[in-house]
Amino acid sequence: MAPSRALFTTTTTALRQLRPPNTRLNPIQSRFISAYGYEQAKCLTFPKYGEPKDVLSLHSHSISPPHGDLVTIRFLASPINPADINQIQGVYPTKPTFTTSLSTSDPIAVGGNEGVAEVISTGSKVKDVQKGDWVILKKQGFGTWRTHAQTTMENLVVIKNKEGLRPEQVGTVSVNPCTAYRMLKDFVDLAPREWFIQNGANSGVGRAAIQLGKLWGYKSINIVRKRESGMEELKQDLQSLGADMVVTDEEVEKKDFRDRVKEATNGGREPIRLGLNCVGGSLVNAMAKHLAPDSHMVTYGAMSKQPVQLPTGLLIFKNISFDGFWVSRWSEQKPEEKEACVQEVLDLTREGKFKDTPMQPLTWNWDTKQDELVQAAQGTLEGFRSGKGIFVFGET
Ligand SMILES: NC(=O)c1ccc[n+]([C@@H]2O[C@H](COP(=O)([O-])OP(=O)(O)OC[C@H]3O[C@@H](n4cnc5c(N)ncnc54)[C@H](OP(=O)(O)O)[C@@H]3O)[C@@H](O)[C@H]2O)c1
Repeated sequence: MAPSRALFTTTTTALRQLRPPNTRLNPIQSRFISAYGYEQAKCLTFPKYGEPKDVLSLHSHSISPPHGDLVTIRFLASPINPADINQIQGVYPTKPTFTTSLSTSDPIAVGGNEGVAEVISTGSKVKDVQKGDWVILKKQGFGTWRTHAQTTMENLVVIKNKEGLRPEQVGTVSVNPCTAYRMLKDFVDLAPREWFIQNGANSGVGRAAIQLGKLWGYKSINIVRKRESGMEELKQDLQSLGADMVVTDEEVEKKDFRDRVKEATNGGREPIRLGLNCVGGSLVNAMAKHLAPDSHMVTYGAMSKQPVQLPTGLLIFKNISFDGFWVSRWSEQKPEEKEACVQEVLDLTREGKFKDTPMQPLTWNWDTKQDELVQAAQGTLEGFRSGKGIFVFGET
């Protein structure tokens, strides 16, 4: 197969042979770079679908200097989202690109879909971006668990004002906050003091929904899974973001929950008109019972892997609509709105009005071992985590 124009590489072996006379040690990055401007890159890749621990491996290759409209980027931060794991397992609708353009004989794909990178060099025809700019990816499927990549501007969005922002904040803006933003705005025209109810409230999306909802004057009932320890701290954490009510999944199924909701919503005069579901199972029915007539229940995830059974009475007598939302489809259909959403959330972040989700960063240096990186990915779908996994690139 011919090497792709967008990602032209030379084999590491070949470059290594050139190294002694033609390379120098970069004192900041503590690794060899070619005197001819070749970048050495590493990426976490998989040759076939499977569990991350079984299929992921660290691959090295080199990237030639950019020419024409090519841009070489160095990643700064790339989160490990649940969807990234589903993609590696082969159960996610967006398929990765399996390619031999990274100097392998058999095709491999690079893991990860979200992240922020810094432009380190550009071809002579590139006008819209310059060295030092930060960029995020326009679409899913690029492969962001990598130290470097080469591409064209059609795959990138430039972050217009990065001042005052950390890579972890910019690298996690385009999926979870945008998902929460659109689900709060696009299904129901909520008025201030009206309510939404959500499960998975401590997830990245859930936390974003609490904060955006609060800023727009909406009230929220937030459901988290019951845990053996740390429940009170979690409640306080979500309340500090703006949650009006935080309850466990067990409390929602109890008989007195209806009375608690009635009291909180001023006897029902402040209606609950929107539900957000990323868990599934019987919990969704328990939530839907509290929705006002003509409300919407939007499903965007299925963390419990349990199906949602539609309660027919609520469909017939209360005209509840059950919808789905997928940020990837929305991003492809409305790229300008996506850029505006990203900029708005980043402005709020800079102003201290939007807090990023708790994270478990793993620093990815040139010498970081494959096992550490694979372990970080494998742990993502384990529940009760203290934060979202994210690769933060150090000396690469
Ligand atoms: N449709 C879209 O466009 C879109 C966009 C973004 C995200 N998503 C989906 O939204 C969900 C959350 O993503 P995220 O990145 O915000 O998550 P995250 O920050 O990584 O948090 C994971 C969440 O899932 C919960 N969870 C884990 N295992 C669970 C289980 N077996 N049953 C019930 N809950 C469980 C966790 O609760 P505990 O703390 O109790 O474990 C936590 O609230 C995922 O399903 C993701 O794929 C969809």
